[in-house]
Amino acid sequence: MHTPHDTDFICLEHINHAYAMGASRQAVLHDVSLSIPAGQSCAIVGASGSGKSTLLNLIGLLDEPTSGRVVLEGQDMTRANAESRAIARNRIVGFVFQSFNLLPRLTALDNVALPLLYRGIAQQQARQAARLQLERVGLAERGHHCPADLSGGQRQRVAIARALVGAPSLLLADEPTGNLDSKTAQGIITLLLSLNRKCGATLVVVTHDGGIAGRMARCIQVIDGRVVDTRHG
Ligand SMILES: Nc1ncnc2c1ncn2[C@@H]1O[C@H](COP(=O)(O)OP(=O)(O)OP(=O)(O)O)[C@@H](O)[C@H]1O
Ligand SMILES: [Mg+2]
Repeated sequence: MHTPHDTDFICLEHINHAYAMGASRQAVLHDVSLSIPAGQSCAIVGASGSGKSTLLNLIGLLDEPTSGRVVLEGQDMTRANAESRAIARNRIVGFVFQSFNLLPRLTALDNVALPLLYRGIAQQQARQAARLQLERVGLAERGHHCPADLSGGQRQRVAIARALVGAPSLLLADEPTGNLDSKTAQGIITLLLSLNRKCGATLVVVTHDGGIAGRMARCIQVIDGRVVDTRHG
């Protein structure tokens, strides 16, 4: 593994992370140092509970490490306040959550439009952009439905459309195809990879699927909270 440099798009330095469990703490990540250059496609694999989602959440500024440094686009985010983290997240990151995190009271269309509304884009324009993204994931007809009226796979595709709508330079996806049949799954991965190749978006995908991991240029393995680089493209 090469030494992380601040100039890399994503740079984690000596990250340790523990969750508070009542009075005690559960250590989940141990001395993780990792850098991902701009435009790379990268899989994160590992057993359930090994720390993959925790790692992705730290990269995506959704959580702060117990110790160590997180640098994104050359900016040290480690001690950034909540507001600057939220702004950086909205500007840079498209996140597909393992559990979708769609807002239940909003339609699919408005869920997808939301990141643009946070940016101050007018509702009509945001909805137009959201419609295009729903088309891209094959859900043009479902925009007016709320998440409860959609299947698991359809919700997953809404979550993917929401991650893409802001044209992020960093796409983070936590098991983005876990609820999809293999043909739809391959289509979604092809879409994510085409954004990686054509638009230069850095792509980091957590997956249990060896076939999907094999389509990424690089594979990072998480073993009991430690990171092992297994392949470079
Ligand atoms: N919010 C939390 N509070 C306490 N412990 C947590 C929390 N989130 C995760 N953990 C614990 O941290 C460890 C790593 O969890 P994580 O979700 O990162 O695993 P994972 O590799 O993504 O697993 P999976 O493949 O099942 O999604 C697990 O033991 C989990 O129980
Ligand atoms: Mg997980």
